[in-house]
Amino acid sequence: QKVGVCVSGGLDSKTVSKRLIEAGIDVLAFSADLGQPDETDINNVKKRMATCGVDTVIVDLKDDMAAGCFDVIQAQAKYDGGYWNTTGIGRYVTCRGLIRAMQQKEVTVLSHGATGRGNDQMRFERYTNVLAPKMRVYAPWRDALLLEEFPGRSEMAAYLGKFNIEAFVGPKKKYSTDANLAGLSHEAEDLESVETPMTIVDPEMGVWPMAAPDKVEEVTIKYAEGRATHINGKALTPVQAIKLANEIGGRNGVGIKHALENRIIGTKSRGVYEAPGMELLGSALVFLYQAVLDRRAQELFEHLSKHIGSQIYDGRWFDPSTRASLIAIQELTRPATGTVKVGCYKGNVFFMGLSDVAASLYNEADSSMEKSDGLNPVSSQGYAEIQSVEARSLARAGLIDDEP
Ligand code: ARG
Ligand code: SIN
Repeated sequence: QKVGVCVSGGLDSKTVSKRLIEAGIDVLAFSADLGQPDETDINNVKKRMATCGVDTVIVDLKDDMAAGCFDVIQAQAKYDGGYWNTTGIGRYVTCRGLIRAMQQKEVTVLSHGATGRGNDQMRFERYTNVLAPKMRVYAPWRDALLLEEFPGRSEMAAYLGKFNIEAFVGPKKKYSTDANLAGLSHEAEDLESVETPMTIVDPEMGVWPMAAPDKVEEVTIKYAEGRATHINGKALTPVQAIKLANEIGGRNGVGIKHALENRIIGTKSRGVYEAPGMELLGSALVFLYQAVLDRRAQELFEHLSKHIGSQIYDGRWFDPSTRASLIAIQELTRPATGTVKVGCYKGNVFFMGLSDVAASLYNEADSSMEKSDGLNPVSSQGYAEIQSVEARSLARAGLIDDEP
């Protein structure tokens, strides 16, 4: 058997890899480049892992990550009140990419560094099971023997020290951060108390709204069939679009959210999320959807959106109902082509204008309250009379409750 260890190059990754090697196991490390905001990290992973005698395969998944972000923005697939599912996207992208690389190297067991307490362990497990049913999963932080050997970071450092492997424990962090192109997820440690304000987080992708400029920044975004193609007139690839939107949103304090969310396994989790680009591209797109989706299309959209949001969170991106919902979202948002102008101001993204929306259902003459060439108010008389037939029958039947 050969173990493929998913690594970040940190203390945990090095300890687990070295410990497996010492147990006589054939180990190869794998790391995903997800376009995380701090790019130095990924370049150092190979070097850091080499210090414990492990070779690392770096898999470039930036384009996959951006494609995932675009799908989620198009579907507005958030979870539990505003979390853009950035870690959830990162997980399916990582698992698919690394499992393919592992299969090329004849890996039979995937090892991951998630704890035995959260969501990621379930996502790694499920994605491995559905994508590579013959592969087995090893979760070191659910292994009682390993937990006993390494109860904390100092024991890991001491273990690596025995082999003269550099082990940078670092200053105690206030919280743990998961990072990728789409955003940052901060949780654990000091964030666990709900008496702690979210402002203990130092934003890494921008600033808090309080520190943002006291000036509106106007942004125009062009979408084609629900996907951003241009920002401020410039044609961009999905990776470039997310990066630029992260910069613009970030410097205006856009997209920082608090969550007290429902984990897969039923416990609650307190988190603080940064996703400035997702929030900017996602909220501007809503203004376009409002013009092109009729009421029933909008209702169906919301239903599918909620389903997709939960599926990503639950590690079910590749499930049939997710695929079917995504196809339906594509169909519903096909008319979403046009340009949206928004203003960014201290954490807000507000509407400034719509243009070039060929499929807009908004017709000024029909919607106007003034005398116009559109809808004739005299014709509304018949519609109102028909409505009153039903209203009166409910009243006669005593089915109307007007108690305060
Ligand atoms: N609760 C979020 C999720 O499950 C984020 C998890 C982030 N992980 C971390 N180590 N900070 O999607
Ligand atoms: C972890 O458990 O490793 C991170 C947090 C989570 O997945 O919920």
